[in-house]
Amino acid sequence: MTDHSHGTSVTDHRHGTTTPAPDHRHQAGETHHHHHDHTDVDWEALAAHLEGEAEFQTPMLDQATAWLRDLLTEPSGPGPDAVRRVLDVGSGPGVTSCLLARAFPQAEVVAVDPTEALLERARNRAASLGFGDRFRTHAGELPDGIDGVGEADLIWSSKALHHVGDQAAAVAALAGRLRPGGLLVVAEGGLSSRMLPRDFGFGRPGFEARLEAVREDWFSRMRAALPGSRDLVEDWPAMLTGAGLESPRSRSFLLDVPAPLDAAQRRHITRQLDRAVEVFGESLDEDDRATLTRLLDPHDPLGVTRRPDLFWLSAQTFHTARAV
Ligand SMILES: C[S@@+](CC[C@H](N)C(=O)[O-])C[C@H]1O[C@@H](n2cnc3c(N)ncnc32)[C@H](O)[C@@H]1O
Repeated sequence: MTDHSHGTSVTDHRHGTTTPAPDHRHQAGETHHHHHDHTDVDWEALAAHLEGEAEFQTPMLDQATAWLRDLLTEPSGPGPDAVRRVLDVGSGPGVTSCLLARAFPQAEVVAVDPTEALLERARNRAASLGFGDRFRTHAGELPDGIDGVGEADLIWSSKALHHVGDQAAAVAALAGRLRPGGLLVVAEGGLSSRMLPRDFGFGRPGFEARLEAVREDWFSRMRAALPGSRDLVEDWPAMLTGAGLESPRSRSFLLDVPAPLDAAQRRHITRQLDRAVEVFGESLDEDDRATLTRLLDPHDPLGVTRRPDLFWLSAQTFHTARAV
């Protein structure tokens, strides 16, 4: 996929990155490499997109939470029913926080995010699903702003750490909130999505691979522009053990949505590609830009709105380790 992003984001399923939508906010004194480099994210503007994204991914997220319950059942773990407090850090609008509330029915779940408007959506969602009495939110930002959130048996952070300049410091801050035996789970990396065959009937074959390459370049620019940005090898198990945690484990789960897709799924993909146009469009060559335009034409029988062979396949990796 396509991360596409800015201003409204697009999420790339490999980094899980939400690409910022172009809101053209610039930090004071900062100059962008070129005028269309959208590396700031207006998270509040992305609320509906983040909800749609996480709802689309729910079948994959359910596999991940089932795996966590299994890990917690291992002899060294507290057991899934001993999980009394769960933090979802960088929760966004709380779709996953609510999945965690369902998976761990004994637990209080705390959604943590810097953006209050997203936390409000999280509270509303939890209340409407009947989790309100054991659901809290906490406004806080990694790496230095989460001390007041308290401790937990399970800390989940999905696709948020790559928006923090110093990812190792963020991992250490999360590890420091774990109770003994508790698990930290970080969803970062995986495989970019594919939605069409290599040759889908027009344009130069291999379009999705080229889109992915352009997105990777954007991702690097986005990271470089973060406050306190630090280059480091994105070896998540090493970061987890470097923060004093033990028994690192990584697993990836597929989001495999075969054709034919329904109208809501097609709308989701259309939003993703719209963002690709906004954020990376100018980095593609002319032929690939024309291909994107045609894919987005709602009347074209070979566009994503109508073609029967559109599918979705992506993988998300989850890295975990345990507090001693
Ligand atoms: C791509 S969204 C992921 C949302 C959700 N975890 C999911 O997987 O659907 C990234 C989230 O990280 C949050 N975020 C950005 N910078 C952060 C920071 N420094 N500390 C904690 N969260 C942050 C954003 O507000 C946003 O909600």
